[in-house]
Amino acid sequence: MAIKRLKRLAESLVLPEGLEALPVPLLLYRKSDGSLLPNPEFIAVFGANAPARILSARPLGLAQERPVHPSAFETPGRQEGCVLENDRGERISVDLRVTPYGKTSEETWLVMFEDTGPRVDLQNQLVKQHLELQKSYEQLRSLQQALIQSAKLASLGELASGVAHELNQPLQAIMGFSQELKFIEKLSPVGSEYADDIVSASKKMAEIIKSLRTFARDSGQELQATSVGHAIEESSRLLRHTFLQAGVTLELNVESDLPLTHANPIQLEQVFVNLLSNAKDALETSGNPSPKVSIVASTTSEGIRVQVIDNGCGMPPEVRDRIFDPFFTTKPVGKGTGLGLSITHGILSRAGARISVESAPGAGTRFTLLFPIDRSQTEGETA
Ligand SMILES: Nc1ncnc2c1ncn2[C@@H]1O[C@H](COP(=O)(O)OP(=O)(O)OP(=O)(O)O)[C@@H](O)[C@H]1O
Ligand SMILES: [Mg+2]
Repeated sequence: MAIKRLKRLAESLVLPEGLEALPVPLLLYRKSDGSLLPNPEFIAVFGANAPARILSARPLGLAQERPVHPSAFETPGRQEGCVLENDRGERISVDLRVTPYGKTSEETWLVMFEDTGPRVDLQNQLVKQHLELQKSYEQLRSLQQALIQSAKLASLGELASGVAHELNQPLQAIMGFSQELKFIEKLSPVGSEYADDIVSASKKMAEIIKSLRTFARDSGQELQATSVGHAIEESSRLLRHTFLQAGVTLELNVESDLPLTHANPIQLEQVFVNLLSNAKDALETSGNPSPKVSIVASTTSEGIRVQVIDNGCGMPPEVRDRIFDPFFTTKPVGKGTGLGLSITHGILSRAGARISVESAPGAGTRFTLLFPIDRSQTEGETA
């Protein structure tokens, strides 16, 4: 049937020379008898059997890929998102441009075909590049955040170091004199109690000053090849009793042959003591009936990865964004100084390690630490 109509067309329709030579695939369509006449470029692109395929195609639907059908040729204008198969069976995405042709009463239409494959490829490529750009932008943003944090900590470190130094001397005097006070005769019991209070408050202050000095990287402790696994075990051993008392399970899952990193072993223990203490505090406030903290350490392609995971109270975003700020604490006065995590951050930066946190209220918290591997040491050595 389609072939018959094409034959009829060949007898009655003639392509003008201009259209014949045009390097654009096109065809003439006559509505009265549904006949089609392609130009040579159309045959070159879609094949000699393509007109027959158009005539036998199903009418245009609303589906995403609409096969080219004569009903599309009767509306002047642009028809987008059509598909026409060539003689090799390849599906080519095309847009159609339909314009009335001549002034005949037979309603003849000129249909031009535009291969949209390259455009679609370009669009897909653009989308891909856009996504990649977005990813790079996110990475840059988090790097920028990390830089701001480091800069903030560095300037605060200098300040803290100065303040710690200035405070230390008067504090030693306060401590000395209050201890002396106790030996003064006729000191009333209340006076003696006050003297004890001054001594213990001074000791707390001395602890804070010590922390400030560590934070300011003033401790003068050298970096060396250090075992992360050893630091985890030592800090857990230190806190095991407190965890036991608080009824919190502490689970270690440390790969046996972890490589070494370049850090200060004492400070590295301090890092895990800080993280574990925070986790324990978070579990105490959460009231979780099965409180648990796990440390998982393994080697990855990026370095040594350590995760400290608790099923405690978790943090809302506004807390999570500030936890590395010095003196930021949500704990009651006297319980937290808010220096633990900023010291942790300082120690890790010095060792070239990274720390990140995932947390949500009620969902617990996961800290992920990534240490570079110290390649200068042979395997098996310990710190
Ligand atoms: N595992 C955790 N779960 C929930 N909140 C946490 C966790 N770790 C830290 N935080 C939040 O981060 C804040 C800052 O922690 P950071 O260790 O710096 O100070 P701190 O624990 O309050 O005081 P300290 O100086 O005694 O460590 C905490 O007060 C707490 O709100
Ligand atoms: Mg803490």
